[in-house]
Amino acid sequence: MGNGLISRRSLSSFSKLLSEKKQRFIHDYSVTPTTFNYRLPSKITSDKFYSAYNKNSIFYSLFHYLSPQSLNKQTPRDFYDSFPLTNFKQLSKSKSNIPPKNVKMLTRDFIDDSLYNPQYGYFNKNAEIFSLGESFDYNNINDIDEFIRIWSTKYEKYSTKSKDNLQLWHTPSELFQPFYGEALARYILVNYKLNLYPYDDLVIYEIGGGNGTLMKNILQYIARNEPKIYKRTKYKIIEISKPLSMKQRFKHLMIKDLEHRVEIVNKSFLDWDERQNEHCFVIGMEVLDNLSHDVLKYDLFTGEPYQGYVVIDENGDFHQFWDPELNAETKTYLELTKDIGVNHEYVNYLTNALYPLNKFNLLKQKFNNVFSPFQNDLTNAMFIPTNLIKIFKILKEKFPNHQLLISDFNKLPKSINRTDYNHPIVQIFLNDKFVTSSTYLAKQGEFDIIFPTDFEIIQQLYTRITGKLISVSSHEKFMNDWSDVEGTCLANGENPLLSLYSNASFLHS
Ligand SMILES: C[S@@+](CC[C@H](N)C(=O)[O-])C[C@H]1O[C@@H](n2cnc3c(N)ncnc32)[C@H](O)[C@@H]1O
Repeated sequence: MGNGLISRRSLSSFSKLLSEKKQRFIHDYSVTPTTFNYRLPSKITSDKFYSAYNKNSIFYSLFHYLSPQSLNKQTPRDFYDSFPLTNFKQLSKSKSNIPPKNVKMLTRDFIDDSLYNPQYGYFNKNAEIFSLGESFDYNNINDIDEFIRIWSTKYEKYSTKSKDNLQLWHTPSELFQPFYGEALARYILVNYKLNLYPYDDLVIYEIGGGNGTLMKNILQYIARNEPKIYKRTKYKIIEISKPLSMKQRFKHLMIKDLEHRVEIVNKSFLDWDERQNEHCFVIGMEVLDNLSHDVLKYDLFTGEPYQGYVVIDENGDFHQFWDPELNAETKTYLELTKDIGVNHEYVNYLTNALYPLNKFNLLKQKFNNVFSPFQNDLTNAMFIPTNLIKIFKILKEKFPNHQLLISDFNKLPKSINRTDYNHPIVQIFLNDKFVTSSTYLAKQGEFDIIFPTDFEIIQQLYTRITGKLISVSSHEKFMNDWSDVEGTCLANGENPLLSLYSNASFLHS
């Protein structure tokens, strides 16, 4: 009608108009979710500008103008407060396969949702762990180059050209099977015989069993070498991913004699609530790297810590917010690691006693801050293993008599974000190549998000939470001590089981 008056329209034509309007929305790709450091008001300094921009930058007014543009011109506080808080648990109850909009959540809930949402999470879609099939004939392979050549031919069956968006990863349990699993079996048996046999049964819990290969290799080794102990062995896998738990079930049904030794529970270990009073071994290979983390930044001048939150707006765009209100696990982390050097207090910060932020060059950051309107007086990011803290608490409360054996990457090949502490690698396997994203704020379910583990810190965390001592060994040392080194030796004396994975470590008690 053109006169601004509402005429009679059917509901469907209104919704058509609405959807046309929505379709016309154009995402601003010049702004990434981490371009702006949106801060909520500090708890220790009064800030009438809601800390929306960097007061110490010479581009102060530019930031003042630009930053609220992607917040519908609202202040960070008003924008942030207009979204309800949700979490991974709530999101996993939904039957929708479309990721949420109009919500905010902790960084770790966003990562959990991206990786483990039952509908669209990465581990519930096309994720597949490389499976070797037959073990390598190590002794008849000339050298490492030939080993890698043979290994890469085994990848051919996984070509993504033939499979829709297949996500493939490989783990040492698979690559070096059965030798890797057998090394763990030896460690477990020696410790069992030393401390528990013949009074207790051998009880093994595996967190995150992948294809079930480790279970198979460990149990077959025990059955072959210690049949009496095998008869007293129970093996339980706790697996968060439904497709992988089904794969594990299938695998153990295919192996003679294993049926009544194995139980597979499709559940997150973080939700484990049964108490296991018996002595047991808890093992987990390459599980820590996919455990969600929280993220912190510090005020460059006051040392006040800020916790990362993610806002997903009505268009599905992500915004990273920094809130001085810390959540319980983050407080626990800071408290427990205080005297190992991690400290959010200003005085330590300035005297460089802050670990690990003292690895970053504070002066350089302050200098950059002057020229970067978007840094907003905040340091580089520090990703902290808050879900691991929950796991250690579960181990203390529900598995009081456990021995722990876990392994993971102590560092990862340099990711794009080299300046952050524990920054994850965020990658997707596309057309037979890995493509990486500079931020974990990428489309949920499409990317693997892999964190390195600071073994020095988690060793201390474990002891402080559980009251038990634990050791750290490099992958090479652990395998040297417990594996069949001759069995994996190449013709020229090189040993890929020892030399590959030089960036992995074991935590073992
Ligand atoms: C990288 S895969 C490693 C699989 C296997 N351990 C191996 O070494 O081949 C990580 C495994 O941990 C599982 N996982 C991750 N978080 C978990 C959790 N909170 N509880 C139980 N399983 C989990 C994944 O679904 C997957 O099976």
